[in-house]
Amino acid sequence: MIDRVAEVADLVTVALDELLPRADGPESRLTEAMRYAALGPGKRLRPFFALEAARLFDLEERPVLRAACALECVHAYSLVHDDLPCMDDDDVRRGRPTVHRAYDEATAVLAGDALQTAAFDILLDEDTHDDPAVRCELAARLSLASGARGMAGGQMIDLMGVRDDLGGVARMQRLKTGALFAYAFEIPLILADAGDAARHALLSFAHDVGLAYQIVDDLLDAEGDAETLGKAAGGKDAARGKTNFVTLLGVDQARGRVSHLADQARAHLDPFGPDAEMLKASVDHVLTRRR
Ligand code: IPE
Ligand code: IPE
Ligand code: MG
Ligand code: MG
Ligand code: MG
Repeated sequence: MIDRVAEVADLVTVALDELLPRADGPESRLTEAMRYAALGPGKRLRPFFALEAARLFDLEERPVLRAACALECVHAYSLVHDDLPCMDDDDVRRGRPTVHRAYDEATAVLAGDALQTAAFDILLDEDTHDDPAVRCELAARLSLASGARGMAGGQMIDLMGVRDDLGGVARMQRLKTGALFAYAFEIPLILADAGDAARHALLSFAHDVGLAYQIVDDLLDAEGDAETLGKAAGGKDAARGKTNFVTLLGVDQARGRVSHLADQARAHLDPFGPDAEMLKASVDHVLTRRR
């Protein structure tokens, strides 16, 4: 299990290294910052889920891997912008200075922008799939998951701080984290042209794991070790006046919710039988993370 996660992380980093642009001249500062953000030691969990879910459909690896790299580019962009002084104002990410600290704010804004467009370059390239309709579907779904009705919309709600009920927090999490998480499963669903039953099962799994993943992130913010985590902890969210499951429910109830969501997530995979054992086993691994 752990071996497979590490194997996927290496595969993705090597593929991203090939896919990301390099440049000569003054714009090389931008491509270097993009590479710094995307090739750093991320856990690559979204690509892991895309590749594992693809095994359920016996898909060829190359298109899944390319689309997973595109997703990882958008994820990296979201983190670069999330860390900016105008957003969460963080200095450390993945155990290293954040992009605006290693470079400067303007470079970080541009690196985020260009990582986002790099994702669509990758998806729309012929090497991703022979059928242009499939490439368009992959791009359209990523666009939806990233934009105002997905990650960016959720980030806006997060920054507004206007939610004092669990329903509002759940909606924020579904957009800011859940949408890109779900896209990891959209990749194999689109490539396999999967039917409604498989679609429902995998997207329900994604919903529960994505939500639980963000609650764990909030728990780690409250009680994690910044050194291990590779980013700020020590209750930084609460100090910034952010509301999340942990500030609303407290640590114990938030933990209870994670374990309930984990059980529910695994149950959604029952229709796949033994083929889904690896995905089921990954739930605990992902939710007991320390970084
Ligand atoms: C961090 O995502 C932001 C959240 C949505 C919780 P990850 O925990 O996947 O970060 P990396 O990619 O491993 O650094
Ligand atoms: C960010 O959530 C989710 C994104 C869309 C980037 P957080 O702000 O909690 O993520 P961390 O804790 O900085 O990784
Ligand atoms: Mg944030
Ligand atoms: Mg943050
Ligand atoms: Mg966080």
